[in-house]
Amino acid sequence: MTIIVGGGICGLGIGWYLAKAGHPVTVLERGQAGAGATWAAAGMLAPRAEAEPAEERLTELLLEAHAMWPAFTAELEAASGVEIDYRGDGTIVVGLDRDDADRLRFQYDFQQRLGLETEWLSGDAAREREPHLAPGVTAAILSPHDHQVDNRKLAMALRTALMRAGGGLREHCQVDEVLIAGGRVRGVRIGDAELADDTVLVAAGAWSRQLPGLPEAVRPPVRPVKGQTLALMMDGARPLIRHVVWGPAVYLVPRRDGRLICGATVEEAGFDTGLTAGGLMDVLRNAWEVLPGIYELPLVESWAGLRPTSRDDAPILGQSAVPGLLFATGHHRNGILLGPLTAWAMSTLIAGGEMPASVRPFAPGRFAAAEAPS
Ligand code: GLY
Repeated sequence: MTIIVGGGICGLGIGWYLAKAGHPVTVLERGQAGAGATWAAAGMLAPRAEAEPAEERLTELLLEAHAMWPAFTAELEAASGVEIDYRGDGTIVVGLDRDDADRLRFQYDFQQRLGLETEWLSGDAAREREPHLAPGVTAAILSPHDHQVDNRKLAMALRTALMRAGGGLREHCQVDEVLIAGGRVRGVRIGDAELADDTVLVAAGAWSRQLPGLPEAVRPPVRPVKGQTLALMMDGARPLIRHVVWGPAVYLVPRRDGRLICGATVEEAGFDTGLTAGGLMDVLRNAWEVLPGIYELPLVESWAGLRPTSRDDAPILGQSAVPGLLFATGHHRNGILLGPLTAWAMSTLIAGGEMPASVRPFAPGRFAAAEAPS
């Protein structure tokens, strides 16, 4: 049996993979499953558009995860009966002035060096593909293979698939302590009750470091990074854009139903999830500069979420120094994209298999190694 602490995309996905392989598993979620960072995300699956110099190894992992999405979507939709609106319209990253164009050119050269399939566009060529882009758009990168999914539907689908496969899910169930004795994990405590188990996987997002009972030496270096986001409503039959569009400090993600997700701030604000006028104003102004037509659109929702961000912005996946205690956390901006790969890699490990070679560099022990005295 495996206990998973946290019912976001990581916990639900790993739980579903274990359950469908016939491995007993229970996911414990202190609130409602899929209602944390998984719900607050924008659902972009964009390893190419987001590729950053000095993150080549992470980019490789993101590309590997991205390649899993079509088959993952088909299997999940069949297993759950829930459509998750995987969209393959591609992503366009735009710049508004000379500095932006220089930055884009640098990013494009980096993408080409990595062999990524992206295309350089002039401002006019970008407007041919998306006619509502601002006249001030001077240059762009088209990334046709960077897609998107409706992350909220994804969470619903994973929840259903987990339960249909026979996995347990306890919502509104707060884990008060991870129990460790005799040098290994023994289970968890929930109030006065103990749930004994020899495998506990922590997938508690931004809270993964705070879980009581974790020895200091293995606490994952994960902190919350706040993102304020809002949704506008377009005419679903005549949407302003069809691609995901990135502008300076903003992204716009068009959903099939006409919603246009505009995000997001990047704030070091602890666990605060309050909305601020300044945060939403920044998102709106940045979005308006790229796509002026949003001015007339109704604002239908605004929210803030907490990215679980590790010290090196890369996920923390694998066995900790405490036998039986595993982590799947720290996914920062890439939790949705990495979902299928996280589920596959961690369920393989728990079922007694080898961690895939591409995932091994992201093991929890890398931080301990970095901190060891030389
Ligand atoms: N991946 C989008 C974000 O972190 O805001």
